[in-house]
Amino acid sequence: MTQQLYVWDFPTRLFHWLLVAAICAQYLTAEILDDAVQWHFYGGYFILGLVIFRVLWGIWGAYYARFNQFVHTPQATWHYAKSLSGMTSLSGMKSLSGARPSEHIYVPSIGHNPLGAYSIIFILSILLTQSISGLFITDEIFHDGPYYSAVSESTRDVMNWLHHQGFNAILLFLALHLSAILIYKIFKKQNLVASMLHGKKQQDDTASWPPTKNHWLRFTLLASISAVAVYLIVVVFAPELADDFDY
Ligand code: HEM
Ligand code: HEM
Repeated sequence: MTQQLYVWDFPTRLFHWLLVAAICAQYLTAEILDDAVQWHFYGGYFILGLVIFRVLWGIWGAYYARFNQFVHTPQATWHYAKSLSGMTSLSGMKSLSGARPSEHIYVPSIGHNPLGAYSIIFILSILLTQSISGLFITDEIFHDGPYYSAVSESTRDVMNWLHHQGFNAILLFLALHLSAILIYKIFKKQNLVASMLHGKKQQDDTASWPPTKNHWLRFTLLASISAVAVYLIVVVFAPELADDFDY
């Protein structure tokens, strides 16, 4: 017997699908559309805000979105990875917060599984690097990032390198991400995409995970803090734009 459990709270799902849309927009505005660099900047600031929000939500958000719920120690993650090939059992594994389901069954992927957890830390770090490095670079025509004039030529070169390589890292993540989702669909018969849309996952009756909550007030507060943080970074703390053009 299985039952549907509400696992992905609304803010986490909103974060995810806005992020996917914004990354597509970043690609389009940088590579495909003409004269869209200003929109590329706005999209980058938006992604910066999303990442700040997700970090705050990972600390003080809904149950399954919290880092201490789904990030396990490297040893436990290794243990989990070996268990995938049937080499060892998972009983006794705990998350960093010590959360553990019933003794009889371990359902590591009712939220994020331990391997997926590290891929989330990876992509959040890459997205942070990508949106911060963008602040320091230029399109070499009309648009300078807000911190372009604040740093030396060699720092700009490093940021430019990071910005261009960062996108390759995002593409690598996407390939692994979609492969993992496909593997779950084919071998475990689990539709993770549907769960990321409506928030519910199948839970075995013998497991004892609690349903998540949306925490609307906290969501509003943390989303507002993220928006203010982006405003401070992009507008208030940014140096005055140097006027490089005589026309
Ligand atoms: C996570 C957010 C971002 C993503 C995914 C992203 C992605 C990209 C990509 C794919 C390119 C083209 C690279 C290439 O041609 O190899 C690019 C170029 C660029 N990005 Fe971003 N970017 C982001 C944020 C930002 C931000 C915040 C800014 C500035 C405030 C920015 C400024 C630029 C500039 C100036 C270029 C060069 C455009 C050109 O040469 O026409 N980016 N970005
Ligand atoms: C570059 C594009 C993408 C990025 C950066 C991205 C990033 C992420 C992140 C950060 C999470 C963790 C969610 C959280 O806890 O906050 C996640 C989970 C998830 N993503 Fe994506 N994603 C992308 C594209 C996609 C696409 C195209 C799909 C569907 C076809 C997808 C389906 C999912 C699903 C199903 C999960 C939940 C996995 C699980 O059950 O553990 N993602 N993604």
